[in-house]
Amino acid sequence: MPQPLTLIQPDDWHLHLRDGAALATTVAHSAKQFARAIVMPNLKIPITTTELAMAYRDRILAAIPDGLAFSPLMTLYLTDDTSIEVIKRAGNNKHIVALKLYPAGATTHSASGVTDIECTYSILEEMIEFDMPLLIHGEVTDPSIDVFDREKIFIERHLEPLTRRYPELKIVLEHITTRDAAEYVEEGGETLAATITPHHLLLNRNAMLVGGIHPHHYCLPVLKREVHRQALVKAATSGNPKFFLGTDSAPHDTSSKESGCGCAGIYSAHAALELYTEIFEAAGALDKLEGFASFHGADFYGLPRNKESISLVKRPWVCPESYQFGDEGVLRPFRAGEALDWTLYANLHRTIQ
Ligand code: NCD
Ligand code: ZN
Repeated sequence: MPQPLTLIQPDDWHLHLRDGAALATTVAHSAKQFARAIVMPNLKIPITTTELAMAYRDRILAAIPDGLAFSPLMTLYLTDDTSIEVIKRAGNNKHIVALKLYPAGATTHSASGVTDIECTYSILEEMIEFDMPLLIHGEVTDPSIDVFDREKIFIERHLEPLTRRYPELKIVLEHITTRDAAEYVEEGGETLAATITPHHLLLNRNAMLVGGIHPHHYCLPVLKREVHRQALVKAATSGNPKFFLGTDSAPHDTSSKESGCGCAGIYSAHAALELYTEIFEAAGALDKLEGFASFHGADFYGLPRNKESISLVKRPWVCPESYQFGDEGVLRPFRAGEALDWTLYANLHRTIQ
């Protein structure tokens, strides 16, 4: 057996678990690798209050397989109607750690999102009081802006004024996809950080559009040019604590992905850490993986680092074509039917002997 790679157990700082029977699959996959995860609030009925978040948290806890420890870190969905009272209640609840800002209409279940960031200023000021981070889906929804430019324009139009007005507000620019975003975060103040997904580190837009259209590589923000992918790899593997792991694993039933109007979202939770390890190895930066996966996020959120460790070994396994998704559905995971180089110790049973 090759030498194992051992890390302090990582956390996933951006995750979609969905709800109901789907939790059996999604929670099991994440809990096998991660100690904690920031759980996105974009359910069909968005998680907008402490009560909804606590009930959702209970459903997640009930889905954790026996023998695994996993802490869901809950977030609230910011809307035009979010009140100061909502922030106070959330800020006083130790299980709710952040608010999520979706520009209205930017992505899956974002219809209730914020129509004008300026209207949320009093809410943001209350969040600063509680030191609660704002997690941003950083894309404009202006129909005149090309979909490949929406992140860059969001930074210019919205993020720059926001960071200038509230330098003390902790902001995570979620799932960054461009060199512009990586540079902006790198040059920004200490209160600005970013998550990076495995798929944006592994793929450029050719993976979605060349040789036919590949709906399972469609996500938002959409995959970009190769120069951007390279800039993301550089940022993730740099050791800079402003960049940390966030899978944005976003499962959809195969029928809604393979459709005339397919949903955005890539499911990577089944193999997240193995994928990140492959990326860091290819970049010659395995020594930087632990910081990115296990330390930088916790430090930014002001949470303790994990104590347990987790090991991977370089042994190939073939990813299943599908997983069950809810009572009747199936989902096609990232790298379905393909070999992966690394495997978690916990998953050694699935490697090729
Ligand atoms: C996410 C989803 O499906 O909930 N989709 C995606 O492509 N990333 C929403 C999101 O994070 O934008
Ligand atoms: Zn997401």
